[in-house]
Amino acid sequence: MRNGPHNVASYGPNIYTKSAVVDPYPHYRRLRRLGPVVWLSRHGVYALPRYAECKATLRDDATFISGHGVALNPISNRLSRGTTLNSDGAEHDRRRKLVAHRLLPRALRDLAETIDDLAAAIVDTAARRRTVDAVADLASALPLAVVPDLVGWPRDERGLLIDWGGATFDVLGPLNRQAVMSFPRSLQMLRFARRVVRRRTVLEGSIVDELLAAVDAGTVSREQCTALMIDYIAPSLDTTISAISNAVSLFASHPEQWQLLKNDPGLIPNAVNEIVRYESPLRAFARLVRHDTEIAGAPIPAGARVLVMYASANRDEREWKDPDAFDIRRDAGRHLGFGNGAHACAGQALARLETAAMLRALINRVDRIHVSGPPTWAENNIIRRYQSLPVTLESA
Ligand code: HEM
Repeated sequence: MRNGPHNVASYGPNIYTKSAVVDPYPHYRRLRRLGPVVWLSRHGVYALPRYAECKATLRDDATFISGHGVALNPISNRLSRGTTLNSDGAEHDRRRKLVAHRLLPRALRDLAETIDDLAAAIVDTAARRRTVDAVADLASALPLAVVPDLVGWPRDERGLLIDWGGATFDVLGPLNRQAVMSFPRSLQMLRFARRVVRRRTVLEGSIVDELLAAVDAGTVSREQCTALMIDYIAPSLDTTISAISNAVSLFASHPEQWQLLKNDPGLIPNAVNEIVRYESPLRAFARLVRHDTEIAGAPIPAGARVLVMYASANRDEREWKDPDAFDIRRDAGRHLGFGNGAHACAGQALARLETAAMLRALINRVDRIHVSGPPTWAENNIIRRYQSLPVTLESA
């Protein structure tokens, strides 16, 4: 360990290599051991690997701002202008109010039954086949069936959505080879969204349909409408696919936890929290420091970037007893997997609804889950999810 700027601990290894993406936890452990603030010399940012500092930073959105982007590279920070994610203060409130009400629990009440029915049908088909890919055949189907309709994405143009959404996350990391390869697909998604907004080929009654009415009324610009469309479609697929496939994997490797859930379905909401805590779908996002400040006694200069490491905070041994144990009975509700403070996930009620519906459908039909072949991890700077996860479902 060397000292970084202002005498904070420094960490040299690249935490965005393929091996670090596949197995990040040893890096997180070393970073947490080094201190509450660690200078990542490779990436030129101050990392916050522990829970307390991550939470405090997310809640102090006047000092640690998102309006200059939450990515680790300037190109993506420019490209994501206009989004809710990329804004501060009153402008953030305004953007959030334009859409987020459509995803509040009470707005989703009518959708809950449809989501349950869809989940049951997906699990029925998979259980009949017995051996399936938990990513393609279980985890992807529900988010794809639900969110694009809600947002209003044209029905005949959905083949590339998951790939485009993944690329749009990937480019929010450092400007490494991985990000460079993803830029063309992320830009394709942006161009496509612009065309949809221009031609108004969105579904009637959808979120973007409502935004187009605001464009007509002159309260929202067309550019803003496009940014908000991306803002809601891009983070809505990979994240939930990650949560559902991680759930399948975790319950396969913890059959006693599966039995607990089957015996007491009342544990489902907390199981969703524990899944998102244990294998956080989003690794980390950055903030820009507005004025000279301190974090845990370390001076941080104005203009620096700090990296809020949700996934490491959720395994912090200072916050969690036995953090590397997966236990659906623990009090997991305070995890940071959906963020915290002003920018806390606007789609979390929907993500919880979808993940819970899949768990309910699975406990009704499946006795045991076995991983039946070597899984692969998606290579992505931001999202931690399986690319493929072969499983066998033993029917109840
Ligand atoms: C398990 C699934 C999900 C996880 C783990 C997740 C995680 C997160 C996290 C950590 C943030 C905070 C970003 C920050 O601190 O800057 C966030 C923000 C956001 N999420 Fe999610 N998300 C999920 C699902 C969804 C879904 C389904 C949607 C939309 C339908 C969505 C839409 C958004 C939006 C719009 C924001 C920005 C909110 C703001 O800046 O005010 N997310 N999400």
